[in-house]
Amino acid sequence: MTKLQLKNISKSFGDTKILDDINITVSEGEFIVLVGPSGSGKSTILRIIAGLETPSIGEIEINSKGINNLPPKDRDIAMVFQNYALYPHMNVYENLAFPLKMKNTSKDLIDKAVNETSELLGIKNYLMKKPKELSGGERQRVALGRAIIRKPQLFLMDEPLSNLDAKLRTQMRAELLKLHKTLSSTVIYVTHDQIEALTMGNKIAVLNKGRIQQIGTPNDIYNNPVNTFVAGFIGNPAMNFFDFKLIDDSKVAFLGRVLKLKVKDNLVKSFQEKNLLNKNIILGIRPENISLLSIETRNEQKSGEIIFQATIDLLEMLGNEYLIYANAISPDSKNNKAPFSIKVFENHSYERNIQINVSINLDKAHYFHGDSGARINL
Ligand SMILES: Nc1ncnc2c1ncn2[C@@H]1O[C@H](COP(=O)(O)OP(=O)(O)OP(=O)(O)O)[C@@H](O)[C@H]1O
Ligand SMILES: [Mg+2]
Repeated sequence: MTKLQLKNISKSFGDTKILDDINITVSEGEFIVLVGPSGSGKSTILRIIAGLETPSIGEIEINSKGINNLPPKDRDIAMVFQNYALYPHMNVYENLAFPLKMKNTSKDLIDKAVNETSELLGIKNYLMKKPKELSGGERQRVALGRAIIRKPQLFLMDEPLSNLDAKLRTQMRAELLKLHKTLSSTVIYVTHDQIEALTMGNKIAVLNKGRIQQIGTPNDIYNNPVNTFVAGFIGNPAMNFFDFKLIDDSKVAFLGRVLKLKVKDNLVKSFQEKNLLNKNIILGIRPENISLLSIETRNEQKSGEIIFQATIDLLEMLGNEYLIYANAISPDSKNNKAPFSIKVFENHSYERNIQINVSINLDKAHYFHGDSGARINL
């Protein structure tokens, strides 16, 4: 069942368009994540849903009924913010009870609800404490408790975990998902953290400059990004991009250097069919799909593989894996450098400034139009 629908929502502040034709459908019980860089319009979308901001154009529907003219207090929506927004002079019990008090709930029912909610969130022992006596994680739990206590039909969460340290954030992520399962609630969750988006959402909407770029499952978004923005934004470290051109006789221009490759016939055929031969293409490849070649194997080019040389710029050890930041070298032009990153799991003894040989398996490549950045589905 459709819970929430945003239809053609646009928003301008003065002459500046902040949101441009936003369409999102959220089903009952769904956990949808809105992700995008700072300033892309994520909070504005939540504020419009909550009624704190009015759209310049477009309709908001809950349970298929227009709510554009419904004041915030009548929308039955709870919002959780990054900064918790607890009442500092009230203790935890009073903070939790507040939304029910506003609805004139009886004292007994409030008591019961505070008990249940604090039990669910593991904050029963803090009921008499003031917010300033709690840690960040505990405060965030109280803020969540205050949102769920009145069982709203929709939760809006605006970067609720970003003030927590890394470990607590991971823990709270898991707890939030558990809570979502227990309550079967409908959640719209905003973050600029793509890892959070991938791990939490049933569905992800990627936003850039006020426009939805793609809506899909984490799998769709990661494996079939619709354009170079989504491809580059989702995934850490980011997808690598290289200039690429397949020339008539199945030579490849890569980094401005023409290489004779054993490109697979089906790739040439697809490029031909789509009229892409000799066109400027962007080849995208994730860091885990680039491999380092040992000296012995570097001359044995396999079919469908690009081999090139690069210099290591920087190495990062991340516990069980290494990130190598390197620059591809084009012998034709010293200025034609292309930075990229590789993820390797073995413990290599690589160093800065040494030369490496690298191979890209074209089966794992993504292709995008050079001009628009739009994905090419081969
Ligand atoms: N009341 C306002 N008046 C004018 N401009 C605004 C107003 N509110 C937001 N903006 C602008 O709208 C754009 C989107 O803001 P918004 O807060 O929605 O971004 P965001 O995606 O939530 O970013 P962040 O990740 O930094 O929280 C920004 O450029 C912001 O400056
Ligand atoms: Mg924001």
